[in-house]
Amino acid sequence: MGQGVLSPAFSRRDGELTCRGVSLEGLAERFGTPLYVYDAQGIAERIQAFHHAFRGVEFLLAYSVKANGNLAILNRIGATGAGADIVSEGELERALRAGIPASRIVFAGVGKTAAEMARALEAGIHAFHVESEEELDLLEEVARARGVQAPVGIRVNPDVESPTPHHYTATGHAASKFGIPVSRAMELYRSGADRPHLRFVGIDVHIGSQIVEVEPYLAALETVLVMVDELRDAGVPLEYLDLGGGFGVGYRGEAGLPLDRLAAVVTKRLRERGLRLILEPGRSIVGEAGVLLTRVLYRKESGGKRFVITDAGMTELLRPSHYGGWHRIVPVIQNADAGAPEVAVDVVGPVCESGDFLALDRPLPLPERGDLLAVGTAGAYGFSMASNYNARRRPAEVLVENSRPLLIRRREEVDDLIRGEVIPPLPTVAAALHSGDPTP
Ligand code: LLP
Repeated sequence: MGQGVLSPAFSRRDGELTCRGVSLEGLAERFGTPLYVYDAQGIAERIQAFHHAFRGVEFLLAYSVKANGNLAILNRIGATGAGADIVSEGELERALRAGIPASRIVFAGVGKTAAEMARALEAGIHAFHVESEEELDLLEEVARARGVQAPVGIRVNPDVESPTPHHYTATGHAASKFGIPVSRAMELYRSGADRPHLRFVGIDVHIGSQIVEVEPYLAALETVLVMVDELRDAGVPLEYLDLGGGFGVGYRGEAGLPLDRLAAVVTKRLRERGLRLILEPGRSIVGEAGVLLTRVLYRKESGGKRFVITDAGMTELLRPSHYGGWHRIVPVIQNADAGAPEVAVDVVGPVCESGDFLALDRPLPLPERGDLLAVGTAGAYGFSMASNYNARRRPAEVLVENSRPLLIRRREEVDDLIRGEVIPPLPTVAAALHSGDPTP
């Protein structure tokens, strides 16, 4: 097998792209397209890389479920001893059903409801990461009503600028909706002495997503460490520091965030204080382990542009259209005329929106109708952001494990599309007249 094409797991054999030796063309024929294919070994190796980098400190990897919440993926991640970072009751149920113990789950998000808090308390999660004062008050009320103590970490807004590729994924600056400013957070921690139904156990910060530089993390770290030290002196000792997720990956094949450089500082600073570390990586665990397979339906030229129309688009992979996200696209079978000149094409989907594309002005060897393309680094925020817009059925997902392809989610059927919808009986003429509706 040759060198990795999209990541080490996806390499060519006789010109054909495989996942650990499993033919991607074969998977597309068997399971149909569009199709997500994930590499189990790659996911496990990324988790090991985190454990290795942060081996010098007591460490919980709380995988960020939003990146890819398939039950099988969560199950395999949980089996390594990892926990989960969740933002909704739905993600809580996913994590629990996949076998991740509640004691390893942290719950972030700016809009938790009382019902979600009650369910998470009942399950016995590790901690709530509270993002506003009003949320803290409600959590206290919910815990009091149940006669329990809620474990809490405040999500602090450290006011750092984080260099993310799109402003939608920056969260660490003061004007973002996330977290609580430092001085207010300090007051809330200090109020803990009078709040028997809250137990302040940790502190949390998450500065954004797809960050490849270490410095913004270190700036945020220093901010929260000053808080931790002041709180300890004020008699509010914290047990853990959660530095969030956001560790960038190489969409163009480059290296992602250098974990070892981050770990060297973080490990030292936390050990000095006897603090446990939690990290919430999502993309950096599953991103490079996934591809989206899509077939070329048609080609056409118009207005001086060349379009390649594929059976996947914004409904399967929203990132290009929503964030200008760039994903590599390669042919699964290299044409006999490999080395054919590349032409700039717009790779567009079937959805009725001009914003529906996988790539714009992308140099590619012009594919034929029916050719299979692989879209790289699609394991994170791919399926999890897929939608049913245009009444499209969400794709199937396959996990390649020990060189065996396992169907971990079947393609949706029409019944899935309309589940829960109700057609009420047409109003009778009499009822319509009674209600004064002139158009029975
Ligand atoms: N922790 C918290 C509190 C988060 O909000 C997020 C991501 C993570 C952890 C995980 O971040 P990661 O390690 O995956 O970068 N849909 C966007 C990314 C949105 C990230 C939202 N929060 C994208 O496709 O780029």
